Amino acid sequence: MAFHILIPDNLSREGIELLQSNPEFRVTTGPLSREEAMAAAADADALIVRSSTKVDAEFLAAAPKLKVIARAGVGVDNIDLAAAAVRGIVVMNTPGGNANAAAEHTLGLMLALARHIPAAHQSLLEGRWDRKKYKGTELRGKTLGVIGLGRIGQTVAAFAQAFGMVVIACDPPIPAEVFERCGVARVSLDELFSRSDYITLHAPANEQTRHMIDAGAIARMKDGVRIINAARGSLIDADALAEAIKSGKVAGAALDVYEVEPPPADYPLIGLDGVVHTPHLGASTKEAQVAVAVQAAEQVRDALLRGETRYVVNASLPGMAEARD
Ligand code: MLT
Repeated sequence: MAFHILIPDNLSREGIELLQSNPEFRVTTGPLSREEAMAAAADADALIVRSSTKVDAEFLAAAPKLKVIARAGVGVDNIDLAAAAVRGIVVMNTPGGNANAAAEHTLGLMLALARHIPAAHQSLLEGRWDRKKYKGTELRGKTLGVIGLGRIGQTVAAFAQAFGMVVIACDPPIPAEVFERCGVARVSLDELFSRSDYITLHAPANEQTRHMIDAGAIARMKDGVRIINAARGSLIDADALAEAIKSGKVAGAALDVYEVEPPPADYPLIGLDGVVHTPHLGASTKEAQVAVAVQAAEQVRDALLRGETRYVVNASLPGMAEARD
């Protein structure tokens, strides 16, 4: 009997076709509402999601046969990893596929801040010719602090070095060789805060990283620092950052991600001068979406047909070890 693979979120055609072309798979595609997805999950063996579908305990309870979940992307904060582990359900992500896209977007946001591109664009549309007002600053010679030196952080570091920036980074679990290979100085978070002209976040969302950029952290930063977040909204305390922007302590912020997406109209940072926004576009390139879709499809295929798993993110959680014995 064919394995049922449920794909409730929008996934690039290339990934779907890879699975549909295999007679051993029956594929249900979306976009599906939560109710439709949960109904379709009743006999699903595998699930591929992006960030829309929240795979929480309730969703998992509706999928009694589920063996594997693939996240076409990096962040797995929309999946209850612990609840999946208890059931022995393998959760995998697809690192690498969208790292370049996220890093390019990060550099785009830095340049937008340094050269006031969104505000200058808007002023021209409104009939002004504000050359003085939008005099910028250069990235060359500035210090960039990278929080999280995984694939995206490393790519951002390389791009920033090409712009002549000095790159320092904090990521305790990453081995010293990686810092050496990247030509990036390894520093503590405090040193990163005190030295950086720009700070860019590339850390996962979890209890440890929640509001890592709060009023206390901002107080330890250089006056006039600029902050870029294309990782996850929960890393920043939005109220604290809004206050720091208003006081001038932080000269600018560029945000691609929000604690709630889309952010509510009264989100404290929206509409502030010096803050640039994009609607979670970091991984939204044609190339990256094809790459993560194909990678997720291949990982699910190999898991179902050969029991081979890659990039498992819940292997160490209670339940998984026993399930794998
Ligand atoms: C990711 O985690 O892969 C990116 O933020 C993009 C996404 O959420 O799909």
